[in-house]
Amino acid sequence: MRKIFIFLTILLALGNNNVAQSVAQQRAERMGTGMNVSYLENWWGGTKSKHYSDFAKPEEAAKREKMFAEIAKAGFKTVRIPINFSAWMELKQPYNWDNPNGLELADNFVKWALANNLNVIIDLHHLEFDRSIPEAETAERIVNLWVKIAERYKNTDPEKVFFEIRNEPRDITAEGWRWQAEQIIKYIREIDKKHTLIVGFEEWNSRQTMIKSKPFADDNIIYTFHYYDPFIFTHQGATWAGSGLVELRNIPFPYSSKEKIKVPKTGGPWVEGMAASYEKDSNSEKIFADLKEAKDWSVKNKVPIFLGEFGSYNQYSTLESRCRHAQVIYSALGKLKIPNAWWEWDGGFNMFKKETPEIADCMRKAIDSYGLPEASN
Ligand code: BGC
Repeated sequence: MRKIFIFLTILLALGNNNVAQSVAQQRAERMGTGMNVSYLENWWGGTKSKHYSDFAKPEEAAKREKMFAEIAKAGFKTVRIPINFSAWMELKQPYNWDNPNGLELADNFVKWALANNLNVIIDLHHLEFDRSIPEAETAERIVNLWVKIAERYKNTDPEKVFFEIRNEPRDITAEGWRWQAEQIIKYIREIDKKHTLIVGFEEWNSRQTMIKSKPFADDNIIYTFHYYDPFIFTHQGATWAGSGLVELRNIPFPYSSKEKIKVPKTGGPWVEGMAASYEKDSNSEKIFADLKEAKDWSVKNKVPIFLGEFGSYNQYSTLESRCRHAQVIYSALGKLKIPNAWWEWDGGFNMFKKETPEIADCMRKAIDSYGLPEASN
């Protein structure tokens, strides 16, 4: 009798699990903490008249092989690889690859990640360059890019390799993006039904547009968003993220009444507004509440989510502030069980001690707070 009871209990537990967990959810659970490996999206290193097809240098790419081992050794489970495949494909029909060498570099990155037992996200990144080549980002061309990318990677292990269909769609309406995403999904699915897709929403993969949206019909999708709040902290001094941030310096995290933020004249109303609400925006409870909203959306819709980019620029803020910010976010992500990828391993948002390739101790502590049991908080 007892044996039967135990058997039935196990059966029920297994049954529940199967019902509750989709393939995408199971895979998302294994993603854990992750890291972005930047380089293959650096189109600005190429020549405009060649639509930047020459941007990726084999010797630069080769230097990065060792990084995958370092990332795995540091305990990260997933790498997101931003790749500008768009630079390597013709601008017009028949949309052939016109720089196969670039593709080989992408193949290598994927291979190196897998060799280190990392999950790997193939992320179609910056396909629009600086937007001065309008034909680069037509829906027709993006679909053609994905037909080729899916063909190329369809035989990789779908338990480890994910396809992120477009980084940070912007200057497109919600309806426009939905339609484009549906086209991309449809064409990928004609080639490959097994890989999990990663899909975000308009306005730069914003959290707000995600929670206003409905999931797509395909059930093998993980939804993604980016979180760089508070933006005047994470992007102080950045030259690429909207004028107004360039001259910002030494903003501490969190807000301190002793260190009033000086908004430079170039700041304008956008930066003034962010400075005015910084006390509230840098509060850890507010940040937790933001991330919880994303999690609530995922629970309500029974779909998994993934935070694909977060981090802070290291040029003009102190390591201590950056670590406090990282800690607030990692511990919230851990409590909410949101898999994630820090931006980025070796560029201006890195986690290293100054002038070394080692993760700073306070960053290590921040990362580890993702895994701390709730009782210790
Ligand atoms: C962009 C990077 C940028 C980062 C932080 C990424 O999506 O591709 O160029 O450094 O966001 O702003």
